[in-house]
Amino acid sequence: MHAVLFSCLSLLIAAFCLAEALPGLPGKIYGVNLGSWLVLESWMLPAEWIAMGGQQCSDCSQCIATEFAFAQAYPTTVDEKFKEHWETWFAQEDVDDLVQSGINTVRIPLGYWIVEALVNRTSEFYPRGGILQLQRGLAQLKAAGIAAILDHHALPGVATAGQEFAGRCTDDVEFYTPYNYHRALVWTAVMTALSHLDPNFATVAAIEAMNEPIMDASQTPGLGGFQVDFVQTVRAVELSLGISVPGITHAPSSNAGNASAALSSTSTYSSIFNAEVRQVLRDAAPVLVQVSKQLGVNTVFSQNGLGSRLKARPPLVTTFMDVNWQFDNPPNPAAAAIGPQGYDNHLYYSFGGVADANEDAYLTSVCNLNRIQADAALGNSPLWFGEWGLSTQFNATDEFLVKWADAQKLSYGKGAGWIFWNFKVEISTLAGDLARQWSYKEGIRLGYLTKDPSKFNNASVCEPYISS
Ligand SMILES: *[C@@H]1O[C@H](CO)[C@@H](O)[C@H](O)[C@H]1NC(C)=O
Ligand SMILES: *[C@@H]1O[C@H](CO)[C@@H](O)[C@H](O)[C@H]1NC(C)=O
Ligand SMILES: *[C@@H]1O[C@H](CO)[C@@H](O)[C@H](O)[C@H]1NC(C)=O
Ligand SMILES: *[C@@H]1O[C@H](CO)[C@@H](O)[C@H](O)[C@H]1NC(C)=O
Repeated sequence: MHAVLFSCLSLLIAAFCLAEALPGLPGKIYGVNLGSWLVLESWMLPAEWIAMGGQQCSDCSQCIATEFAFAQAYPTTVDEKFKEHWETWFAQEDVDDLVQSGINTVRIPLGYWIVEALVNRTSEFYPRGGILQLQRGLAQLKAAGIAAILDHHALPGVATAGQEFAGRCTDDVEFYTPYNYHRALVWTAVMTALSHLDPNFATVAAIEAMNEPIMDASQTPGLGGFQVDFVQTVRAVELSLGISVPGITHAPSSNAGNASAALSSTSTYSSIFNAEVRQVLRDAAPVLVQVSKQLGVNTVFSQNGLGSRLKARPPLVTTFMDVNWQFDNPPNPAAAAIGPQGYDNHLYYSFGGVADANEDAYLTSVCNLNRIQADAALGNSPLWFGEWGLSTQFNATDEFLVKWADAQKLSYGKGAGWIFWNFKVEISTLAGDLARQWSYKEGIRLGYLTKDPSKFNNASVCEPYISS
């Protein structure tokens, strides 16, 4: 992998790096996010949220606007209410829609609370049972041949202030501390192990360390260490399970009789993985036992040929937001890579700060985008655009949205591909126009997005805007 990174660096052309395909991911990602499924953001489904018992307010910390506030307000019914949401928001008919529209990848935003043992129930409130829904959804995606990226979206301790997507809307941001980094790493170990052990997780190809850290790196102390520990955790779990990892010469070992015993016997790896990572594996072992029971996953190596099945598995693609997501001397996740790694950038024009609020400025900006090259120059390649949409700061015409969709797909597709936010949003009186610019499904219906994601309404859309 390091050789590949260097060749990307010397060429400075992302396209060449893509020749090195990432295991399990399509050569070109045409994807959607499964947002508001296992991390609910109430702005995306306002009528359903009110019907569930939630509330709307302009400052999301002041009412029942998040999963945390909901679980705190309704401790006895929260699990049942969320089960209904999980079963209806993403169901077989949604998978069928993805297949029909040629989607080959999904990014699945997840909360730390899906690994239930990580939640401190005296001070943290979240629904239970999401992991069973994840298993169900992944089985459906596997049957459809769709690759999945597990995205640690809502982190323990809250990683961003004042956001519904953090799971809890608060200014009290405590993720960037040793205690919460440790919990995030235990989550990582458990999800990595499940991805390999549970046949329902077979099309899980990548695991993303965290969604959108605070952009100012001076406010994210310890993030560089977390990046190193994240990759080491994934690789240590894989080696323990008997999966080989390029770049590590140490033989994968699975002398233990089952997966939790394998994770516990980390002393074998003391020369490769640091003390924190070895502690993470020991702490993850009993959690894995619990979750495997909950999901009915076989963890005993001698049965059903589990050992030989694992030997045939490729390692997961470790994934980070790209280095240029942050400013103020950020750590570079490329420095943490062992084995296959990919990078994620998010681009929304509607929140401001990217281009002037008019059609020409938007198209000029996106048609001349240099993010893929800028990231490749720092070793952050392959890069995909893991969140984008059609939203704008101005009232967009239908004619413009056709161009806006084409131009973004053209630019983002020059890298490893793109993942739209979101696969759908609610269509209701309360939601108003929301779906027009935020829903992939609605975007196809309205003709902004082509039925075949590799196609364009007009592949020349950028020609008038490209500067020499
Ligand atoms: C759980 O949270 C409570 C209240 O914040 C705290 O006192 C306790 O130490 C925490 N327990 C663990 C195991 O971290
Ligand atoms: C795993 O193996 C260990 C050590 O042999 C044993 O103590 C433990 O009960 C086993 N656990 C499971 C879940 O099979
Ligand atoms: C967009 O349209 C709405 C409804 O027609 C109108 O209230 C609003 O002022 C318009 N916004 C802009 C920026 O033109
Ligand atoms: C496609 O876009 C180019 C550049 O704006 C334009 O010249 C051309 O007429 C468009 N083609 C169609 C079929 O609309």
